[in-house]
Amino acid sequence: MDSFSVPIGRLGQEPYSRIIGYPKTTKKAVAKRVLELKKLGIKNVTFCGPTLLGNVPVLGKGYVGIVVLSRHGKNQVALKIRRTDSSREEMRGEAKFLKLANKVNVGPKVIDSSKNFMVMEYVEGKKIIDWVGELKGRGSAAKLKTVARKILEDCYNLDRIHLDHGELSYMHKHVIVGKFPRIIDFESASVNRRTANVTSATQSIFIGSGLSNIVKKIIKIPDTKRMIESLKKYKHDQSRENFDNVLKVLGLYKV
Ligand SMILES: Nc1ncnc2c1ncn2[C@@H]1O[C@H](COP(=O)(O)OP(=O)(O)OP(=O)(O)O)[C@@H](O)[C@H]1O
Ligand SMILES: [Mg+2]
Repeated sequence: MDSFSVPIGRLGQEPYSRIIGYPKTTKKAVAKRVLELKKLGIKNVTFCGPTLLGNVPVLGKGYVGIVVLSRHGKNQVALKIRRTDSSREEMRGEAKFLKLANKVNVGPKVIDSSKNFMVMEYVEGKKIIDWVGELKGRGSAAKLKTVARKILEDCYNLDRIHLDHGELSYMHKHVIVGKFPRIIDFESASVNRRTANVTSATQSIFIGSGLSNIVKKIIKIPDTKRMIESLKKYKHDQSRENFDNVLKVLGLYKV
């Protein structure tokens, strides 16, 4: 379906109300949510993207939220709408963690948040698993290495500020690759856990996952034992030197 924009004044009507209050809600609750959107300065929502809810396209759908393209002032933004059946009570917690990640230039920039919504920078691109699957021909290995290196640098920066993303072992759905890769979805993040960003991301890209199976066909993966040894050393002491050593073992140091 083609994309189409709906001004905020019409979002309370069907079928849009079903997305604002997905999967189930009342008229009253939708009206409240529309008011919340107005307060956040959302002007309209553009329904577009690869995921269909009923017959309405959206950017993405998860267990916590539905993400749609919106207009906020003059800017296009991504709006994460809290699902009415989400286990999270509000979106502010996620916004707090994403803001922390933004301090080291990781993740989409947070613009605003409220109980049921988070307004953030729109990241154009494809989920990493689809991006890797479509890599073809000369230069693929180099492109993949550059993307892997950037993801790991971001993970190292998150480790440095003690922010654990929490779901990077399922990287296939937590990285969008456009001009460069971006880690998304900080909803399960924590500042009270031991950080495992570099370790989980390396596992996911190189060691064992649906993603690593595709990666293996494009670049030569180092010996698992050597990878695990370097990760263990890094886990014990998350120094730049030990991180550089991980990059060297992965063949990403000079990328
Ligand atoms: N800033 C963004 N720009 C563009 N698309 C986005 C953005 N944030 C999220 N998406 C899309 O929306 C989808 C769902 O977002 P997200 O992963 O944050 O939701 P979730 O409910 O926490 O998901 P899950 O249940 O997988 O944890 C993403 O997979 C992605 O395709
Ligand atoms: Mg999530």
